[in-house]
Amino acid sequence: MRAGLVLAFAVLAAFATEAVAQDEHRRRLAAELTIMAGDLRRLEAATEPPLRLDGLRARLAGALASLPLLMRRAGADAGAVPALRDALGRRDWRSMRADLRALQGAHPFDARALLPAEATPAQLRVGEAIHRQACAGCHDAPPAETRLPALNLFEEAKRMPREEFAARLLLGVRGDRSTAYRNPFSDLELASLVAYYEQGKPDGAGRR
Ligand code: HEC
Repeated sequence: MRAGLVLAFAVLAAFATEAVAQDEHRRRLAAELTIMAGDLRRLEAATEPPLRLDGLRARLAGALASLPLLMRRAGADAGAVPALRDALGRRDWRSMRADLRALQGAHPFDARALLPAEATPAQLRVGEAIHRQACAGCHDAPPAETRLPALNLFEEAKRMPREEFAARLLLGVRGDRSTAYRNPFSDLELASLVAYYEQGKPDGAGRR
């Protein structure tokens, strides 16, 4: 009886972890689609230097290369990917936009856990501490002549919808080998970063 109960719990726990993993895969997929749509918007606007536009195209191609795996992990049908790849090759932004929109409709990104309702002083402190220690070195002085520079995150936060910025933080922050290159930060820490970047540095430092 007891053993049976323990087993039942073990099975339940296994299901629960699998459900969490599945949810995380869905969240990553939805975040990736949000970022791709944002990168496409920048490509279409074409207001950035050619080198940067090249970088964006390369990043979209990379995203499309790993999209089928991401979709399978999330239990989604990857049938739409080849058409997206073709459209990128032809630079047919309009068709890409339509296909991406359909995918986003099927896999909407729920950014709520990453968006601070109201920035508390504690959150701002956490965000600032993480930024200073782990991000500022690369992101506060972006080099101009690079395909994919580490952009100024205070400016990025102002330039796009909050959900998109949250998606970029979720997938754009990489750990090191110790975290298997996964984002090492919790949702709460990421929300603190969002709060910090949205509010901007009080003394204006870190802005260009
Ligand atoms: C060693 C340098 C370095 C460090 C440290 C670093 N980044 Fe980055 N980061 C980059 C570069 C370079 C890119 C551009 C690569 C790309 O866009 O694919 C990038 C991209 C990003 C993006 C994606 C931007 C986009 O356009 O989608 C986000 C968000 C980001 N970083 C946030 C952070 C945060 C937050 C930290 C600190 C926790 C951090 N980074 C630490 C170099 C760094």
